[in-house]
Amino acid sequence: MNLFRKDLLQAGPPADISVPRKKNMMCLNESVLDPFQAIDEAFQQTMQEVHLNRYFSQVTGELKRLLVDYVGHGVSKDNLLWGNGADDMLFACFLAVRENNAAFAVSLAPSYFDYSTYSRAAGLGIKFIDYLPDFDFDEKKYLEVLNSPDCRLGILCNPNNPTGHLLNDEKILHILENTKKPVLLDETYFEFSGKTMVDRVADFSHLIVVRSFSKSFSAAGLRFGYLVSQPQNVEEIRKVQTIFNTSIMVQAFVMTMLLNKDVFLRHTAAAVALKQQLYKDMLEIDGIKTLPSATNFLTFTAGERSADLFEFLKQNDIAIRDVGAHPLLAKHLRVSVGSPEQNHYFIDTLKRFLS
Ligand SMILES: Cc1ncc(COP(=O)(O)O)c(C=O)c1O
Repeated sequence: MNLFRKDLLQAGPPADISVPRKKNMMCLNESVLDPFQAIDEAFQQTMQEVHLNRYFSQVTGELKRLLVDYVGHGVSKDNLLWGNGADDMLFACFLAVRENNAAFAVSLAPSYFDYSTYSRAAGLGIKFIDYLPDFDFDEKKYLEVLNSPDCRLGILCNPNNPTGHLLNDEKILHILENTKKPVLLDETYFEFSGKTMVDRVADFSHLIVVRSFSKSFSAAGLRFGYLVSQPQNVEEIRKVQTIFNTSIMVQAFVMTMLLNKDVFLRHTAAAVALKQQLYKDMLEIDGIKTLPSATNFLTFTAGERSADLFEFLKQNDIAIRDVGAHPLLAKHLRVSVGSPEQNHYFIDTLKRFLS
C-alpha cells in the first residue's frame, strides 16, 4: 500500500540544488550585503516591542502599511498577501488553482527551475513552451495552451531567470488581454530592472504579481515574498495558506528593512552598476559569450570549455551555477554579481583559464 500520493512516489527525490560551497558564492543570485548587519540596531529596537509569545502582533499592520507604501501604484493592503519567499507564493498559487488531476500550468522555458518543483508538489501539471533562439516567444502558441480547457495558470518570469532577459511589455499585455485565466507574473528581480506590471493589477482581474525580498532586499535566508493581485484573488489564495504562515520575527525584520529601505535600494543600485561593469569586462574576454541581463546575474558560455571552466572556477574557490539543462542554454553557466573584489577575482580567474 502506498502511504503517500502516487505522483509523489513517481517524482523521485526532491530537486537537488547542486551548487558547490565555496568562499565566493556567486551561484544563487544572492546579495553580498548581510541585512542583519545592515540594520542590526534598528532591528533590536523593533524587537523590544515585539512579543514572540503571542500569535498576533501589531507588527503585521505596520508591515502592511509600509509594504503598501513601498509597492505604490495605488495598491492597497487588500491587494497584498505575503509568505515565506516568492517560492511560497508560487506554491500557494499552484495549490489555489489546482482544480483536479488534469489541471496544469504553462510556462516559457528555460525559466525558473522550481516552477516544476512546486507545481509537482501541489499536484498541478506543468507544460513548457520553449523560447525562440533569440529569447523572444510565440505569444499565439502560449495563449493557445493557456486558453485550453485544463490549463489553470499562465506563468511569466520577468526578468527571466536563468537568461536574465526582459519580456516585451506589449506581449505581456497581449496575453493579459486575450485570456481570462490567472497569469502569474514573477517579478522576483524587479528592483534590478525597474520594470513592473503592478500598476496594471487594477486593470486585469486575473493578474497576480509575485515579488521577493531575497534579491534586492538581500534577505534570501530570511524567507519573505509577497504577491499583488485584486482582493478577490488574494482572498482565494489565502485559503491555502496556514493561518500563521509568516513568523512575527520575519515580519518584524522586514518591517525594519522597509523603515530603512534606502540602505537596500542604494545597495541595489550599486549591484546594478557592478553588474554592468562585470558585463562589460566579460564582453571583452575572447572565448566566452555573455547574455545581456536585467537582473543581478549574468549567463554566459565558453562553448565546449564550459564544463572545464566550471571546474576551474570551483578549484579557485568560486561557485557559479550550471544552467545548461535546457537545449537553448546548452553549455551555459550563470554568475551572480558579487562584491567589487569578488567580481575582479572572477574576471581574473576567467582570463587565467582562457589564456
Ligand atoms: C525567478 C525566481 N522566482 C522565485 C524565486 C524564489 O525566491 P525566494 O527566495 O523569494 O523564494 C527565485 C529565486 O532565485 C527566482 O529566481
